Amino acid sequence: MLVVVALLLIGLARFVGKKQYAVTQADPAVEAAIAERIAPVAKLAIAGEDNSALVTPDQPAEPEQPVQQAAAPAEGTAGKETYNMACVACHGAGIAGAPKYGDAAVWAPRIAKGMDTLHKHAIEGFHGDAGFMPAKGGRVDLSDQVVMDAVDYMVAGSK
Ligand code: HEC
Repeated sequence: MLVVVALLLIGLARFVGKKQYAVTQADPAVEAAIAERIAPVAKLAIAGEDNSALVTPDQPAEPEQPVQQAAAPAEGTAGKETYNMACVACHGAGIAGAPKYGDAAVWAPRIAKGMDTLHKHAIEGFHGDAGFMPAKGGRVDLSDQVVMDAVDYMVAGSK
């Protein structure tokens, strides 16, 4: 019984295979599509020979994408955004000796050093008595300007 079933399956497979082969042979479009699919990725150009068949047609020019200009944060919010992204982790709660946002007492002596110094320390990093302030809060990808904005924001909120 099993032998009969096996033979039937073999017969069916051959029949289906032949049918499919016939279909692909009959249709040049299918043939072309297959040839394209199995074509080697790389082609070899030989110096001195006619290599015109290898020339790839010019790609249609990419349509000019309108440059999406990121909207500049509104005045006063730039520093806040940076603060919330890169500084709040330490300065929000005063972690590891960081002067806490809004704590006027701890900020007063720092503010007395002058904004230029605070900007510089925020950008380049600062190792004081209280702890270690990493350069740009560890976000070295930030521009100097947004770090300075964040300092301004912190200072303004801590007077
Ligand atoms: C990993 C924790 C940490 C992060 C994140 C961090 N700070 Fe600080 N920051 C500190 C510590 C600690 C100090 C205090 C250093 C000291 O005085 O010893 C400090 C001090 C400062 C000071 C005062 C420097 C001075 O001269 O007194 C400024 C300004 C400052 N940070 C700005 C920033 C800004 C802006 C960011 C975000 C871009 C930021 N910090 C992110 C830990 C951090």
